[in-house]
Amino acid sequence: MSQQNYEIAVYPGDGIGPEVTREAIRVLDVVAEQQGFTISKRHLDWGYDYWKQHGQPAPDGFVDSLRDVDAIFLGAVGWPDDMPDHLSLAPLVSIRQAFDQYACIRPARLLPGLTSVLAGKGPDDIDIMVIRENSEGEYIDNGGRFKQGTPDEVAIQTALHTRKGVERILRFGFEQARTRRNHLTMVTKSNAQRYSYVMWDDILEEIKDDYPDVETVRQHCDAAVMNFVRWPERFDVVVASNLFGDLLTDLGGILGGGLGLAPSCNVNPEKRFPSMFEPVHGSAPDIAGQGIANPVAAILSLVMMLDHLGQPAAAKQIQTAVESAIMAGHKTTDLGGELSTDQMGDAIISQLN
Ligand code: NAD
Ligand code: IPM
Ligand code: MN
Repeated sequence: MSQQNYEIAVYPGDGIGPEVTREAIRVLDVVAEQQGFTISKRHLDWGYDYWKQHGQPAPDGFVDSLRDVDAIFLGAVGWPDDMPDHLSLAPLVSIRQAFDQYACIRPARLLPGLTSVLAGKGPDDIDIMVIRENSEGEYIDNGGRFKQGTPDEVAIQTALHTRKGVERILRFGFEQARTRRNHLTMVTKSNAQRYSYVMWDDILEEIKDDYPDVETVRQHCDAAVMNFVRWPERFDVVVASNLFGDLLTDLGGILGGGLGLAPSCNVNPEKRFPSMFEPVHGSAPDIAGQGIANPVAAILSLVMMLDHLGQPAAAKQIQTAVESAIMAGHKTTDLGGELSTDQMGDAIISQLN
């Protein structure tokens, strides 16, 4: 029998983060009741407001305080006009790394009922799953600034790629490809970065024969971004380093209809630590406070969370409700519709059955 109560840490964050989180939690509560499980929520008031009061974006020991939850649900963080981004975003990156959430899964699928930004491409052409290495690479806090503010200033920031980290994310990608269309593209820049990404190439060569049923392709990141636009239908699973995965998933978001639709999860596949679920998008200060943010990316991140928690029926219910709402023409303004954030939440809730 599956677990009946889950403790979820809810970290709404800044800007539109709380707006979309509110809708996601409403949906979660309805589905939990319908499916017969309960959710205890631990609200985290971290972010810009917390920083204004306490001088730091999250309390000391914040990572340890999350060790016992079943999952973390995050809205979005960042309030860049008033707070340096590298401070507001630090808890997010720390959680990913401390909980070894090494696989960041970001599907980009154009749903039926939406128009692509790419002329002549439709839902049959755009169904990509980017698997981003999420625990090391370019996101390691490794470097320093010297002679700061002087003409002789030097900044050094060194990426870190480990054999263990690369091999496990590639194997994770291969396993995902086996559940999809058996195709994997590894995106690097091994023509210019001759140590780190050449190691990625070597490791792919060493392990790919373990997956003879999966076709593999290698692309450099510059070519891959062009090909995402030119031939999105040629991509199935894409495995990329932390930074390249970040870039590719904003592009994937727009190919899938917009950032307001793109879900994401940061998982520790072995479940040794809690995983974190969040939209791909940020806090969108340009539309924050207007009640117009699209809550779908957050709501689809719930689908990933419920699958991870072992509630596939609940996950499927939400996925189907979102797809039906969109097919019925319910859209927020980013999709050319007129609905507000909470009206879109209502439209999805009314499709839950
Ligand atoms: P962003 O993703 O917040 O916004 C990019 C564009 O997409 C904006 O025009 C925005 O209005 C639009 N958009 C994003 N989400 C939307 C939604 N749900 N509905 C409708 N439109 C949506 O990226 P940005 O403007 O570069 O960053 C803003 C802040 O968010 C920065 O502080 C940045 O560092 C931070 N950020 C945080 C995360 C995160 O919390 N995971 C991710 C990306 C950026
Ligand atoms: C994302 C974001 C983050 C990242 C930022 C906020 C640190 O852009 O989740 O895509 O670069 O990973
Ligand atoms: Mn990003």
